[in-house]
Amino acid sequence: MVRTMEQTLTLEQPLTSGALETDGADEAGGPHARWHLSGFPNYRHALPVDEISASKITEKEFLDNYVNRNRPCVLKGAVRHWPAFTRWRQIDYLTSRTANQKVEIASYPGPELIAWAEPKLKKTLLDDVAATHREMPLHDFLNEVPRQGDYFVLPACPIEPGSPMAQLEADIGGYRFLPSPKRALLYTPYRAFIYRDSYTDWHFHSTDETLMTQVVGDKEVLILPPDNASWQALLPVIRENGYLFDVDTHKFPQFGQLQPIRAIVEEGDALYIPVFWWHAVQSLGAEFGITVASTFMTPLHINGDLRFPAMRKLFGTYIRTRHAPLLLAMVAYSLGYRMVQRFLSVLESPRRV
Ligand SMILES: [Fe+2]
Repeated sequence: MVRTMEQTLTLEQPLTSGALETDGADEAGGPHARWHLSGFPNYRHALPVDEISASKITEKEFLDNYVNRNRPCVLKGAVRHWPAFTRWRQIDYLTSRTANQKVEIASYPGPELIAWAEPKLKKTLLDDVAATHREMPLHDFLNEVPRQGDYFVLPACPIEPGSPMAQLEADIGGYRFLPSPKRALLYTPYRAFIYRDSYTDWHFHSTDETLMTQVVGDKEVLILPPDNASWQALLPVIRENGYLFDVDTHKFPQFGQLQPIRAIVEEGDALYIPVFWWHAVQSLGAEFGITVASTFMTPLHINGDLRFPAMRKLFGTYIRTRHAPLLLAMVAYSLGYRMVQRFLSVLESPRRV
Protein backbone atom coordinates (compact mmCIF):
# COMPACT_ATOMS: atom_id res chain seq x y z
CA MET A 1 0.00 0.00 0.00
CA VAL A 2 1.22 3.48 -0.78
CA ARG A 3 0.25 6.04 1.80
CA THR A 4 1.57 9.56 1.99
CA MET A 5 1.52 12.38 4.48
CA GLU A 6 -0.84 14.27 2.19
CA GLN A 7 -3.33 11.43 2.30
CA THR A 8 -3.39 11.41 6.08
CA LEU A 9 -4.27 15.08 5.97
CA THR A 10 -7.34 14.62 3.76
CA LEU A 11 -10.73 14.07 5.27
CA GLU A 12 -14.44 14.42 5.00
CA GLN A 13 -16.13 17.23 6.87
CA PRO A 14 -19.89 17.73 7.23
CA LEU A 15 -21.32 20.89 5.74
CA THR A 16 -21.57 23.88 7.98
CA SER A 17 -24.73 25.86 8.36
CA GLY A 18 -22.75 28.95 7.35
CA ALA A 19 -23.66 31.07 4.38
CA LEU A 20 -21.80 30.19 1.21
CA GLU A 21 -20.07 33.27 -0.19
CA THR A 22 -20.77 32.67 -3.86
CA ASP A 23 -20.06 36.20 -5.05
CA GLY A 24 -22.75 35.36 -7.61
CA ALA A 25 -20.41 33.12 -9.57
CA ASP A 26 -21.81 29.67 -8.79
CA GLU A 27 -25.51 30.28 -8.57
CA ALA A 28 -26.28 27.12 -10.53
CA GLY A 29 -25.18 25.13 -7.48
CA GLY A 30 -24.69 21.43 -8.04
CA PRO A 31 -23.60 18.66 -5.71
CA HIS A 32 -20.10 20.05 -5.31
CA ALA A 33 -20.88 23.76 -5.32
CA ARG A 34 -19.85 23.88 -1.66
CA TRP A 35 -16.20 23.43 -2.49
CA HIS A 36 -16.15 24.98 -5.95
CA LEU A 37 -13.45 27.64 -6.26
CA SER A 38 -15.95 30.11 -7.71
CA GLY A 39 -17.49 30.25 -4.22
CA PHE A 40 -14.33 31.79 -2.79
CA PRO A 41 -14.61 35.45 -1.75
CA ASN A 42 -13.84 37.97 -4.49
CA TYR A 43 -13.45 35.22 -7.10
CA ARG A 44 -14.76 37.49 -9.84
CA HIS A 45 -12.04 39.99 -9.04
CA ALA A 46 -9.23 37.46 -8.87
CA LEU A 47 -5.89 38.78 -10.08
CA PRO A 48 -3.97 37.07 -12.90
CA VAL A 49 -0.76 35.16 -12.37
CA ASP A 50 2.27 35.71 -14.64
CA GLU A 51 2.19 33.44 -17.70
CA ILE A 52 5.43 32.73 -19.54
CA SER A 53 6.28 30.56 -22.52
CA ALA A 54 8.41 27.73 -21.13
CA SER A 55 10.43 27.67 -24.34
CA LYS A 56 11.40 31.33 -24.04
CA ILE A 57 12.43 31.66 -20.40
CA THR A 58 16.00 30.80 -19.44
CA GLU A 59 17.03 29.04 -16.24
CA LYS A 60 18.60 32.28 -14.98
CA GLU A 61 15.42 34.25 -15.68
CA PHE A 62 13.27 31.62 -13.95
CA LEU A 63 15.49 31.55 -10.87
CA ASP A 64 16.12 35.32 -10.68
CA ASN A 65 12.59 36.50 -11.40
CA TYR A 66 10.52 33.82 -9.68
CA VAL A 67 12.29 31.28 -7.45
CA ASN A 68 14.66 33.64 -5.68
CA ARG A 69 11.87 36.22 -5.35
CA ASN A 70 9.27 33.70 -4.11
CA ARG A 71 6.78 34.56 -6.89
CA PRO A 72 4.44 32.10 -8.67
CA CYS A 73 4.01 31.82 -12.44
CA VAL A 74 2.50 29.55 -15.09
CA LEU A 75 4.99 28.08 -17.56
CA LYS A 76 3.05 27.46 -20.76
CA GLY A 77 3.92 24.33 -22.68
CA ALA A 78 6.43 23.22 -20.04
CA VAL A 79 6.06 19.46 -20.62
CA ARG A 80 4.60 19.03 -24.08
CA HIS A 81 7.86 17.28 -24.97
CA TRP A 82 7.41 14.59 -22.29
CA PRO A 83 6.53 11.12 -23.65
CA ALA A 84 4.00 11.05 -20.78
CA PHE A 85 2.09 13.90 -22.46
CA THR A 86 0.84 11.56 -25.19
CA ARG A 87 1.11 8.15 -23.51
CA TRP A 88 -0.54 8.67 -20.12
CA ARG A 89 -4.02 9.47 -21.46
CA GLN A 90 -4.31 5.79 -22.44
CA ILE A 91 -5.44 3.68 -19.49
CA ASP A 92 -4.13 0.49 -21.13
CA TYR A 93 -0.69 2.03 -21.29
CA LEU A 94 -0.81 3.00 -17.61
CA THR A 95 -1.88 -0.47 -16.49
CA SER A 96 0.86 -2.06 -18.61
CA ARG A 97 3.54 0.13 -17.00
CA THR A 98 2.44 -0.02 -13.35
CA ALA A 99 2.39 -2.68 -10.64
CA ASN A 100 -1.04 -3.70 -9.42
CA GLN A 101 -0.32 -2.94 -5.77
CA LYS A 102 -2.90 -1.69 -3.32
CA VAL A 103 -3.14 2.09 -3.12
CA GLU A 104 -5.24 4.37 -0.95
CA ILE A 105 -8.04 6.20 -2.74
CA ALA A 106 -9.93 9.26 -1.47
CA SER A 107 -13.65 9.69 -2.09
CA TYR A 108 -14.01 13.17 -0.60
CA PRO A 109 -11.75 16.23 -0.25
CA GLY A 110 -11.10 17.88 3.03
CA PRO A 111 -8.91 20.07 5.21
CA GLU A 112 -5.18 19.82 4.79
CA LEU A 113 -3.95 21.21 8.12
CA ILE A 114 -5.54 18.97 10.72
CA ALA A 115 -2.64 19.46 13.13
CA TRP A 116 -3.64 23.09 13.59
CA ALA A 117 -7.29 22.41 14.35
CA GLU A 118 -8.55 22.75 17.92
CA PRO A 119 -7.90 19.58 19.95
CA LYS A 120 -11.55 18.55 20.21
CA LEU A 121 -11.93 18.89 16.42
CA LYS A 122 -8.86 16.82 15.49
CA LYS A 123 -10.35 13.45 16.38
CA THR A 124 -13.46 14.12 14.32
CA LEU A 125 -11.34 15.11 11.36
CA LEU A 126 -9.10 12.07 11.63
CA ASP A 127 -12.17 9.80 11.90
CA ASP A 128 -13.49 11.40 8.74
CA VAL A 129 -10.19 10.69 6.95
CA ALA A 130 -10.58 7.03 7.80
CA ALA A 131 -14.20 7.04 6.60
CA THR A 132 -13.43 8.55 3.19
CA HIS A 133 -10.29 6.62 2.25
CA ARG A 134 -10.12 3.01 1.15
CA GLU A 135 -7.57 0.66 -0.30
CA MET A 136 -7.97 -0.81 -3.76
CA PRO A 137 -5.68 -2.39 -6.37
CA LEU A 138 -4.14 0.29 -8.57
CA HIS A 139 -5.44 -1.28 -11.79
CA ASP A 140 -9.01 -1.34 -10.45
CA PHE A 141 -8.65 2.36 -9.76
CA LEU A 142 -7.22 3.06 -13.23
CA ASN A 143 -10.10 1.24 -14.89
CA GLU A 144 -12.66 3.12 -12.78
CA VAL A 145 -11.29 6.65 -12.93
CA PRO A 146 -12.23 7.46 -16.60
CA ARG A 147 -15.92 6.76 -15.93
CA GLN A 148 -18.24 9.65 -15.14
CA GLY A 149 -18.75 10.17 -11.45
CA ASP A 150 -17.96 12.11 -8.31
CA TYR A 151 -14.68 12.94 -6.63
CA PHE A 152 -12.30 9.99 -6.98
CA VAL A 153 -8.61 10.56 -6.37
CA LEU A 154 -5.34 8.71 -6.04
CA PRO A 155 -3.24 11.39 -4.30
CA ALA A 156 0.51 11.77 -4.31
CA CYS A 157 1.81 8.41 -5.52
CA PRO A 158 5.63 8.66 -5.75
CA ILE A 159 7.17 7.90 -9.12
CA GLU A 160 10.40 6.36 -7.95
CA PRO A 161 12.08 2.97 -7.63
CA GLY A 162 10.01 0.63 -5.49
CA SER A 163 6.70 2.39 -6.08
CA PRO A 164 3.97 0.88 -8.30
CA MET A 165 4.61 3.70 -10.77
CA ALA A 166 8.38 3.29 -10.97
CA GLN A 167 8.38 2.44 -14.70
CA LEU A 168 6.54 5.66 -15.55
CA GLU A 169 9.60 7.72 -14.65
CA ALA A 170 10.97 6.89 -18.12
CA ASP A 171 8.17 9.03 -19.61
CA ILE A 172 9.17 12.15 -17.66
CA GLY A 173 11.42 14.51 -19.57
CA GLY A 174 12.37 17.26 -17.14
CA TYR A 175 12.08 21.02 -17.64
CA ARG A 176 14.16 23.03 -20.13
CA PHE A 177 14.06 26.09 -17.86
CA LEU A 178 15.33 24.04 -14.87
CA PRO A 179 17.69 21.39 -16.26
CA SER A 180 19.38 20.40 -12.97
CA PRO A 181 17.06 21.05 -10.03
CA LYS A 182 18.43 20.52 -6.53
CA ARG A 183 16.72 17.58 -4.82
CA ALA A 184 13.90 18.60 -2.48
CA LEU A 185 14.32 18.07 1.27
CA LEU A 186 10.93 16.53 2.08
CA TYR A 187 9.25 15.33 -1.09
CA THR A 188 10.32 12.85 -3.74
CA PRO A 189 11.13 14.53 -7.08
CA TYR A 190 7.95 13.33 -8.82
CA ARG A 191 4.54 12.41 -7.41
CA ALA A 192 1.51 11.53 -9.52
CA PHE A 193 -2.06 12.57 -8.73
CA ILE A 194 -4.65 10.69 -10.81
CA TYR A 195 -8.19 11.94 -10.45
CA ARG A 196 -11.62 12.85 -11.67
CA ASP A 197 -13.68 15.74 -10.25
CA SER A 198 -10.91 16.63 -7.82
CA TYR A 199 -10.54 19.43 -5.31
CA THR A 200 -7.68 20.10 -2.89
CA ASP A 201 -8.42 22.44 -0.01
CA TRP A 202 -6.27 25.44 0.88
CA HIS A 203 -2.78 24.65 2.15
CA PHE A 204 0.83 25.69 1.67
CA HIS A 205 4.13 23.82 1.50
CA SER A 206 6.41 24.52 4.43
CA THR A 207 9.48 23.53 2.44
CA ASP A 208 10.36 22.60 -1.17
CA GLU A 209 9.35 24.36 -4.40
CA THR A 210 6.66 22.76 -6.57
CA LEU A 211 5.96 22.61 -10.29
CA MET A 212 2.31 21.50 -10.49
CA THR A 213 2.46 19.92 -13.91
CA GLN A 214 -0.61 19.00 -15.94
CA VAL A 215 0.14 15.91 -18.00
CA VAL A 216 -3.53 15.03 -18.69
CA GLY A 217 -6.40 17.50 -18.22
CA ASP A 218 -6.68 21.09 -17.02
CA LYS A 219 -6.87 22.51 -13.51
CA GLU A 220 -7.85 25.80 -11.91
CA VAL A 221 -5.87 27.12 -8.96
CA LEU A 222 -6.57 29.97 -6.57
CA ILE A 223 -3.53 31.37 -4.82
CA LEU A 224 -2.98 33.66 -1.83
CA PRO A 225 0.29 35.35 -0.92
CA PRO A 226 2.16 34.24 2.21
CA ASP A 227 1.51 37.51 4.03
CA ASN A 228 -0.02 38.50 7.36
CA ALA A 229 -3.46 39.18 5.83
CA SER A 230 -3.75 35.61 4.51
CA TRP A 231 -2.42 34.15 7.74
CA GLN A 232 -4.77 36.12 10.01
CA ALA A 233 -7.79 35.32 7.82
CA LEU A 234 -7.13 31.58 7.36
CA LEU A 235 -5.77 30.44 10.73
CA PRO A 236 -8.95 31.05 12.77
CA VAL A 237 -10.96 29.09 10.18
CA ILE A 238 -8.49 26.20 10.28
CA ARG A 239 -8.64 26.11 14.08
CA GLU A 240 -12.43 26.18 14.33
CA ASN A 241 -13.60 24.51 11.09
CA GLY A 242 -10.64 22.40 10.00
CA TYR A 243 -11.43 23.05 6.35
CA LEU A 244 -11.47 26.15 4.19
CA PHE A 245 -14.43 25.78 1.84
CA ASP A 246 -18.04 26.81 2.48
CA VAL A 247 -16.82 29.29 5.08
CA ASP A 248 -19.29 31.53 6.92
CA THR A 249 -17.90 34.99 6.10
CA HIS A 250 -20.15 36.58 8.71
CA LYS A 251 -18.42 34.52 11.39
CA PHE A 252 -15.00 35.01 9.76
CA PRO A 253 -15.15 38.51 8.18
CA GLN A 254 -11.40 38.65 7.42
CA PHE A 255 -11.82 35.57 5.26
CA GLY A 256 -14.37 37.45 3.15
CA GLN A 257 -11.82 40.19 2.47
CA LEU A 258 -9.24 37.89 0.88
CA GLN A 259 -8.18 38.74 -2.67
CA PRO A 260 -7.17 35.58 -4.57
CA ILE A 261 -4.91 35.18 -7.57
CA ARG A 262 -6.25 32.79 -10.23
CA ALA A 263 -4.37 30.45 -12.57
CA ILE A 264 -5.63 28.12 -15.28
CA VAL A 265 -3.12 25.33 -15.83
CA GLU A 266 -3.80 23.62 -19.15
CA GLU A 267 -2.47 20.28 -20.39
CA GLY A 268 1.25 20.62 -20.90
CA ASP A 269 1.62 23.61 -18.55
CA ALA A 270 3.28 23.80 -15.15
CA LEU A 271 2.34 26.14 -12.32
CA TYR A 272 5.30 27.14 -10.20
CA ILE A 273 4.10 27.23 -6.56
CA PRO A 274 6.69 28.78 -4.26
CA VAL A 275 7.03 27.68 -0.67
CA PHE A 276 4.58 29.27 1.83
CA TRP A 277 2.06 30.41 -0.85
CA TRP A 278 -1.49 29.25 -0.06
CA HIS A 279 -3.32 27.46 -2.85
CA ALA A 280 -6.52 25.52 -3.52
CA VAL A 281 -6.89 23.39 -6.64
CA GLN A 282 -9.75 21.87 -8.61
CA SER A 283 -9.96 19.91 -11.85
CA LEU A 284 -11.70 21.31 -14.91
CA GLY A 285 -13.93 19.15 -17.10
CA ALA A 286 -15.47 15.73 -16.58
CA GLU A 287 -12.56 13.66 -17.93
CA PHE A 288 -9.92 12.06 -15.74
CA GLY A 289 -6.65 13.88 -15.28
CA ILE A 290 -3.06 13.36 -14.18
CA THR A 291 -0.91 15.88 -12.38
CA VAL A 292 2.78 15.40 -11.66
CA ALA A 293 4.02 17.42 -8.70
CA SER A 294 7.72 18.00 -9.28
CA THR A 295 9.68 19.38 -6.38
CA PHE A 296 13.07 20.96 -5.88
CA MET A 297 14.93 22.57 -3.02
CA THR A 298 13.81 25.94 -1.69
CA PRO A 299 16.54 28.61 -1.65
CA LEU A 300 17.87 28.96 1.88
CA HIS A 301 17.27 32.71 1.99
CA ILE A 302 13.54 32.04 1.42
CA ASN A 303 13.20 29.20 3.91
CA GLY A 304 14.92 31.24 6.62
CA ASP A 305 12.97 34.46 6.09
CA LEU A 306 11.07 35.35 9.27
CA ARG A 307 8.92 37.87 7.41
CA PHE A 308 6.78 34.88 6.35
CA PRO A 309 4.19 34.10 9.05
CA ALA A 310 4.52 30.37 8.35
CA MET A 311 8.27 30.57 8.95
CA ARG A 312 7.68 32.40 12.23
CA LYS A 313 5.34 29.61 13.32
CA LEU A 314 7.88 26.94 12.36
CA PHE A 315 10.58 28.90 14.16
CA GLY A 316 8.47 29.07 17.32
CA THR A 317 7.70 25.36 17.11
CA TYR A 318 11.25 24.09 16.64
CA ILE A 319 13.53 26.67 18.31
CA ARG A 320 13.53 24.71 21.60
CA THR A 321 14.40 21.44 19.87
CA ARG A 322 17.57 19.90 18.49
CA HIS A 323 16.80 21.71 15.21
CA ALA A 324 17.54 25.10 16.81
CA PRO A 325 21.11 25.47 15.38
CA LEU A 326 19.86 24.76 11.86
CA LEU A 327 16.99 27.21 12.25
CA LEU A 328 19.27 29.95 13.52
CA ALA A 329 21.72 29.35 10.67
CA MET A 330 18.89 29.60 8.11
CA VAL A 331 17.60 32.83 9.60
CA ALA A 332 21.09 34.35 9.75
CA TYR A 333 21.78 33.34 6.14
CA SER A 334 18.48 34.85 4.98
CA LEU A 335 19.22 38.11 6.77
CA GLY A 336 22.71 38.26 5.29
CA TYR A 337 21.43 37.48 1.79
CA ARG A 338 18.91 40.30 1.93
CA MET A 339 21.48 42.77 3.25
CA VAL A 340 23.85 41.90 0.40
CA GLN A 341 21.03 42.19 -2.16
CA ARG A 342 20.06 45.59 -0.79
CA PHE A 343 23.67 46.75 -0.89
CA LEU A 344 24.05 45.59 -4.50
CA SER A 345 20.83 47.32 -5.54
CA VAL A 346 22.08 50.59 -4.03
CA LEU A 347 25.34 50.22 -5.95
CA GLU A 348 23.49 49.56 -9.21
CA SER A 349 20.93 52.37 -8.84
CA PRO A 350 21.67 55.69 -10.64
CA ARG A 351 23.49 58.19 -8.50
CA ARG A 352 21.35 61.09 -7.32
CA VAL A 353 22.36 64.58 -8.42
FE1 LIG B 1 0.06 21.88 -2.81
